[in-house]
This record gives sequence, structure tokens and C-alpha cells, in this order.
Amino acid sequence: METEISQRLAELREELRRHNHRYYVLDDPSIPDVEYDRLFQELKSIEQAHPDLITPDSPSQRVGDSPLDAFTQVEHEQSMLSLDNVFSDEELKDWEKRIFNRLGLAADSDKQLAFACEPKLDGIACSLLYVDGILERGATRGDGRVGEDITQNVRTINSIPLSLHGDNWPKRLEVRGEIYMPKAGFAALNERMLAQDSKPFVNPRNAAAGSLRQLDSRITAQRPLEMCCYSVHIRDGSLPFDSHSAGIKQLAEWGFKTNAEMRVVQGVQACVDYYNDLLTRRGDLVYDIDGIVFKVDDLALQERLGFVSRAPRWAVAHKFPAQEEITTLLDVEFQVGRTGAITPVARLNPVFVGGVTVSNATLHNADEIARLGVKVGDSVIVRRAGDVIPQIVQVVLERRPDDARNVEFPNCCPMCESPTERVEGEAVTRCTGGLVCPAQQKQAIKHYASRKAMDIDGLGDKLVELMADEGLIQSIADLYQLTVEQISNLERMGQKSAENLVAAIEKSKATTLPRFLYSLGVREVGEATAQNLAKHFLTIDAIIAADEEALLEVEDVGPIVAKHIIGFFEVDDNRQIIDRLLAAGVHWPDIIPPSEDEQPLKGETWVLTGSLETMSRAEAKEKLVALGAKVAGSVSKNTDCVVAGPGAGSKLAKAESLGLKVLDEAALQAFLNDH
Ligand code: IVH
Repeated sequence: METEISQRLAELREELRRHNHRYYVLDDPSIPDVEYDRLFQELKSIEQAHPDLITPDSPSQRVGDSPLDAFTQVEHEQSMLSLDNVFSDEELKDWEKRIFNRLGLAADSDKQLAFACEPKLDGIACSLLYVDGILERGATRGDGRVGEDITQNVRTINSIPLSLHGDNWPKRLEVRGEIYMPKAGFAALNERMLAQDSKPFVNPRNAAAGSLRQLDSRITAQRPLEMCCYSVHIRDGSLPFDSHSAGIKQLAEWGFKTNAEMRVVQGVQACVDYYNDLLTRRGDLVYDIDGIVFKVDDLALQERLGFVSRAPRWAVAHKFPAQEEITTLLDVEFQVGRTGAITPVARLNPVFVGGVTVSNATLHNADEIARLGVKVGDSVIVRRAGDVIPQIVQVVLERRPDDARNVEFPNCCPMCESPTERVEGEAVTRCTGGLVCPAQQKQAIKHYASRKAMDIDGLGDKLVELMADEGLIQSIADLYQLTVEQISNLERMGQKSAENLVAAIEKSKATTLPRFLYSLGVREVGEATAQNLAKHFLTIDAIIAADEEALLEVEDVGPIVAKHIIGFFEVDDNRQIIDRLLAAGVHWPDIIPPSEDEQPLKGETWVLTGSLETMSRAEAKEKLVALGAKVAGSVSKNTDCVVAGPGAGSKLAKAESLGLKVLDEAALQAFLNDH
């Protein structure tokens, strides 16, 4: 019995270890997550029943342990060195020349040295010690001589093997590499931090460092850390390979994650090419890198070259342009977007960062300004990684000048001076100017002309842009003053299309109150809300005059929508535009409150699907709503009738399977004619 259990445990551990390796080290999972979870559960329940059979390398032992009081110090058996940096191709070529000199090779000799090229991961250096194939200790670099024991935390990192694969490993093996947080994991972690009102991390490196510094390894276990290994050290015997690249290959066979981008190239020019290639692909990599490390591949040559002070002569780092720089916040300006959102934009003392000169950065919204605690005059850290727009990630408080001033969010729109508002629970501050704000006018006109709004045939987005840019229209009311002559003078507009457009604008004057309301583009007032408002208040004057209490009586209108409606009609200019539209002749039939018997579909839910030929779906919907029906988007058992035109698909199939009433277009027409 006991042996059966031990055997099953061994099988499970081996299988989980294999899947873990495929998933975290090779990025090539072979079974679905649920299957992995099932195996893991089985392992855990057997271990729970037999705690004496738990081994330190069991995959269950990665979840973190009880918190430590402090990290203990560990002295490295062999110092963890750092690298010399070069910042240009010239300096890199000089490095190769020095190597040639040291090795006694003539500078003009044809000999090409083999170099291993590797991305320089931007994380935390770490040393792992394996004794008899089992992970015994993990340590930070510290000052190179003495680091901290982070074994508990290291054990939670899935790409670090708890026991070595294969069987040709030495009794004592030290492996070094970089612990880092991939970009995607960093973004997800920061989202989590913000959701919990915790301070987000400035960059993936800080996030990795902060996660490793946890005394409670259960927290570390929840951080998306990985380790990529770049060197092998064996103390009790010689290395079973003669090049750096062969060592890396051996590490991969023992179960470690190594860098798939590593290449061995001949000569320094090929190193330069490798550098340029990775520089262009830097943004596409799933982790941050801050340069390239070049290493003489031949271990015998490494040995001959040796070290100078604390860096090897046989390796060098060619740094990429910095992705973070420090500069001064000169001012904050406020831009109004086409939906009225007001965005604070930082004006910076121009600074070269991430390969370009940056003089502006978005500050997103008032919350972001508060979170950063930034003041005008501050020194700030600007980050530009890949193609991501530049961000201010941190204020350097020690450098705050005495005359630094607070960033004040404007109470009035910088474009139209209408009051700004910030709805509770939303991050954005908005201009309430709506129809009059120049920043929002084009958007307002496009919306007004759109199909579900006033449906002005031929007045597309491009034409609105053009007419606004030419100064022909500033607001929706100007549309009704347009002449054929004005329009035909526009680029690519002939006499005929100008006439058609004026006719379409004229035709739009005959509308309905719900359409008109929807066309005004009041925030949060969609088609359904416009319908409900019209049905409830019957006239535009009543809607304009409604206070919050009255608005809240309308179906589907809550405090936020009510606030938007009141805010919109409070603005004098908006009311003037409505007056102008009405004066130009926009009109609609009076709404006569339907008596119960005029609403034969009251209480019924209808669904429209497929295309209709004699009317648009929007028109059909309007007619059905007028008869009291609710028109829904999806079919359920509560649906009373489905109108199916040609091309109806899954909704029709569902209606049939539920045995619902289905009408075709002719039947719908007949029904509408009768009512
Ligand atoms: S080799 C003696 N290879 O860069 C050689 N280091 O600036 C020492 N690093 O402390 C390191 N990626 O943390 C090496 N592929 C790589 C690396 C790498 C990142 C880090 C490492 C080191 C620092 C030196």
C-alpha cells in the first residue's frame, strides 16, 4: 500500500514537473490547464493524507512559506561580477582590439573570434545552488561578495527547477541568471495594484525587485516572475564543455530557462549587426532589455583573458539608449478631445529617451496627477518603452524646488469656457459644452447626421470634416443654412451631389422627437433613453424644463443620466442651437399618449433579425415600440415574436428550437398595416 502511494506520488511529481517545464521554460504547453490542475489536486490530496511523504522538490512546494523576520546574508563562493559597458560601435570595436592584443593576435590577422550574443535582461541578478541535483539555495547578488538568501522566494518561481533534469550533473552546481518580470505580467500586476488602491510599480525591474524583496514568499508566489540563466559554475571538477554556448545548452537540458535569442557569431561586425537587429525588435520582446551582452565564447580564451577589478575582460555590455530619463515638468496644459474628455498634458523640458526627443507626455486624468503627486517645476522620471506613448512614472521628491506649484484642473473648458464636470465614479473630467465646444463640434455634427440620428444621406464623416475645416459649419444648426453653391465649391463636390445633399438636409427636417433627442448627442442618451424621454414628456420644452426628480421617473433614467441631461440643457448655447434648429423648420408629429388599447403589443418582447427590404430595422423597431413592444437584441424563452428577414442565422434557429412565433417581412408589413 505504502509503496503504491509512493509510486503514484513519484509519477505525479514527474508528470507535473514535465508539464511545468514545458509551460514555464519552453513556452510550449502540451496539456490544457484543467488537466494540469487535476493532476496537481491529486498530488496535493495524497500529500495532505501523507505529509511525511512530502519532498522539498515536490511541485506542491512552490506556493510560498510562512514569512521570515529578515533575510540572512550569504557569502558567494565566487564573487558575482558586473560588466563593463560600451555605448557605441566604436567602443565595442575597441573592446575587440584589446582582446586581440591580450591574446597576442595581430590586429590585422584574419582570425575571427566567436562571440556569444545575448539580450541583457533588465532584472535582478540571482545565484542558484544545487546540491545533489536539488535546489538548495537562492541568493541575490548584493554587493557581489555578500548577498541575501532568498531561497523561499526563488522556490515559488515556476521556471526555476526544484530538482535538475537528466543525470549528468555535478554534485555541487551553481547557476546564475536574471530574475525578471515579463511586460504582460507587469501590466496585469499593476492593474491589480491599482484596483486594490495600492501604489503601482514604476517599471518591470522595480516590480521584480519588490517581489523578490518580500519576506512573505506567499506574496512572491503570486507575482509573475521568471528566471533566465546565463552562466554555469562548477566547483568540484572541471566543466564538461568548452564554450559558453555549450554551457547554456547544458543548462537548458538540466531544465533551466535560457534565452532563445542567444546566437554565436564570428567577429565584432556581426556583434554590431546583432545589436542593431535586437534594437529594432526591442519593443516586440515580451521582456524589457537594456542592451546586449557580448561574451568570448571559448572558455579557454576566457580563462586567458581573465578579469580586471570586478568585471571580466572577455565580456562587455553594449547598452541601448535609456528608456527612462529625468527632466523637468515645465507646465501642464489641458486638451479637449472630440468627446469632450479633458486630458492633462505635461510640457517637459525636451529630453532624449527611448531613442526620441520627448517634450510632451500624457498625464491621463486628475487621479493620475494625484497618484503621482506631481507639481509644476518638479523633476520627473519619463519613460518611453517601445512604441508606448511617453509616461511620467515618478516624481523625484528630493529635487522639488521651493516654488513648485500644484496642478489645478480647470473648472471651465479651455476651448469653449463651458463648465467642466466630473461624474462620480468616473476618472474623466469633461466639458459640458457639447454642441458649442469647437473641440467637439465635428463629432457632434457627424453624430447628428448619422443613420440612427437625423439620417442625412450623403453627409459622411469626411464631408463633415471638410465643411468644418472650410468654415462652412460650426454647429449642427449651420447645416440648414448651407447652399448648393457653397457645397459645390468644395473639393470633389459636383453640382448634382451638392443638390442631393441640400435635398437630404431638407428632408431630415421631418423627424420624430426621439430621433431629434438622440441626435443632440447628450451623453448617455442613446436611442432607447431618447424614446423613453419622448414618451414620458411628450414635448421638447417639457424635457428641457425637467428637473432631476422628474427625470428620474423616466424608465431607465438614473442619477448619472439625469445629470447629463440637465447639464446639457443648462448651457445657453445648447438651447440656442435647439431654437435655431426649430426655427429652420425641424419638426415632428405630436406625440399623442397612446391609450392602452392602442398598444396591442404592450408587455411583449420582439426580436428583429436578418435584413428587411421595405424598411430599415431601425424603422421597424420604431413602429413596434410605438405599438408598445419592447424590442430586444437576443432571443430567449421570454421572446414573444421573432421577425426574420433574409440572412437570419442563429437567432432564427434558436426561435425555432424554442417553438416561438416567427414572422417574415410580409407578415410584419401586414401586421403593421392592421394596427
Ligand atoms: S553576464 C561576469 N549575461 O547585467 C558576467 N549578465 O551589468 C556577469 N545581465 O549583474 C554577467 N543579462 O545581472 C550577463 N545575458 C546576460 C545578462 C546579464 C543581464 C545583468 C546581470 C549583471 C549585470 C551586469
